[in-house]
Amino acid sequence: MSKVDVLLGLQWGDEGKGKIVDVLAPHYQIIARFQGGPNAGHSLEFNGQKFVLHTIPSGIFREGTVNIIGNGVVIDPVTFKKEIENLEKAGVDVVSRLLISRKAHLILPTHKVLDAASEASKGTSKIGSTLKGIGPTYMDKTGRNGLRVGDVELDTFTEKYDQLKHKHEQLIELYHYEYDVTEAEQLWFESLETLRRFTFIDSEDYLHKALAEDKKILAEGAQGTMLDIDFGSYPFVTSSNTITAGACTGLGIAPNKIGEVFGIFKAYCTRVGSGPFPTELENETGQALRDIGREYGATTGRPRRTGWLDIPALNYACRINGVTKLLMMKADVLSGFETLEVATSYNYNGQNLDHLPYDVLSGRLLPVFEQLKGWHSDLTGMKDISELPAELETYTQFIEEKTGVPVSVISVGPDREQTLIRKNIFA
Ligand code: GDP
Ligand code: IMO
Ligand code: MG
Repeated sequence: MSKVDVLLGLQWGDEGKGKIVDVLAPHYQIIARFQGGPNAGHSLEFNGQKFVLHTIPSGIFREGTVNIIGNGVVIDPVTFKKEIENLEKAGVDVVSRLLISRKAHLILPTHKVLDAASEASKGTSKIGSTLKGIGPTYMDKTGRNGLRVGDVELDTFTEKYDQLKHKHEQLIELYHYEYDVTEAEQLWFESLETLRRFTFIDSEDYLHKALAEDKKILAEGAQGTMLDIDFGSYPFVTSSNTITAGACTGLGIAPNKIGEVFGIFKAYCTRVGSGPFPTELENETGQALRDIGREYGATTGRPRRTGWLDIPALNYACRINGVTKLLMMKADVLSGFETLEVATSYNYNGQNLDHLPYDVLSGRLLPVFEQLKGWHSDLTGMKDISELPAELETYTQFIEEKTGVPVSVISVGPDREQTLIRKNIFA
């Protein structure tokens, strides 16, 4: 029986998961998203075209690959419809390639209002949510009030919708928040018709059968480990488990059926939204990383905060996820820096720490840096790992030593082709 490989982000999201899932997809028969929703923005580039996916797995462009939206995902029918329209315009036969779990939860227009009302009420301590309704939808899931994809097939659907909407209206009143969902609601119900064109499945059952038939399955994560609801920099996190364990609950896969865990990280760090970011560079170097790396959110367009690589955070993420292979993204962005800094521990109120402290809000968290020599050559046209500068190899080995995990892939540009294999990823 085969196992499910997992691919996820080790930092604060936007590590380049979409690109790598697309690169690896030909090695798999099934690609399954296990959590998150339209807060995600996964970019793919090939043949001079660029796509951003929010809810749809990044294997959708590969013919013969089945893509699954798992039970752990939350779906906004409106965003979903837009994604489908874009893909169909590009000639992708989405209906035959995409299956949706009946147990995935639906984001209602009033979930988005609640998200906005909650953020507005927090003032300067807001999370910096993408305002896609993620938090309120997962709250209704764990509160056992949620509406699921499978409900769309039931006679009681409208009744259930009205009940949940009514509950939301009462909650929004507590915030004294002005809103009008008339238009959004109309669009939502229209968009449901797009959702209905797809096959709804009991995805856990589908995946168990696929495993028994020895099919190759890749689970695609969204967000990143430092945004995990339990292990991220709470409360500045998203509302789902973004870690390997999230693939178990978000797809119904037993822990002993997990195979490789591919951990994706940028050669530096970025974060969009509020919350602690120990290695953040609020200076010219940070701006240079933002400019060269084009660090603007794929979902919200917000400028991403930037900083040097954070080894304590990376190490923590490797342990929590059981990462077996590391994939380093955006190495090309570091070209041209004389010296590269890497945080190897934190100083917190005078104490040396190798992980983020519980209390991330008070006290001063200072990264302790080590310096490595930079390189100047442009990596974006390089076709083989042997062409990469020696300084990058030293940088990579430094990361391997600190994490104890091999770096299998080095990405040198956004295109599918700009992916260099350093060590056999399937060995
Ligand atoms: P995801 O959310 O993890 O899928 O990542 P995003 O798509 O949100 O953000 C990654 C961004 O970096 C996208 O714009 C990608 O096209 C781009 N990208 C991915 N890999 C590389 C790389 O190796 N080099 C450069 N320069 N850009 C990359
Ligand atoms: P991908 O899959 C980067 C951030 C938001 C905010 C926090 C909570 O593209 O890597 P939410 O809307 O979930 O309530 O926002 O999490 N965030 C992301 N940051 N990449 C993402 O997804 C993100 N999804 C959410 O900016 O700080
Ligand atoms: Mg993204």
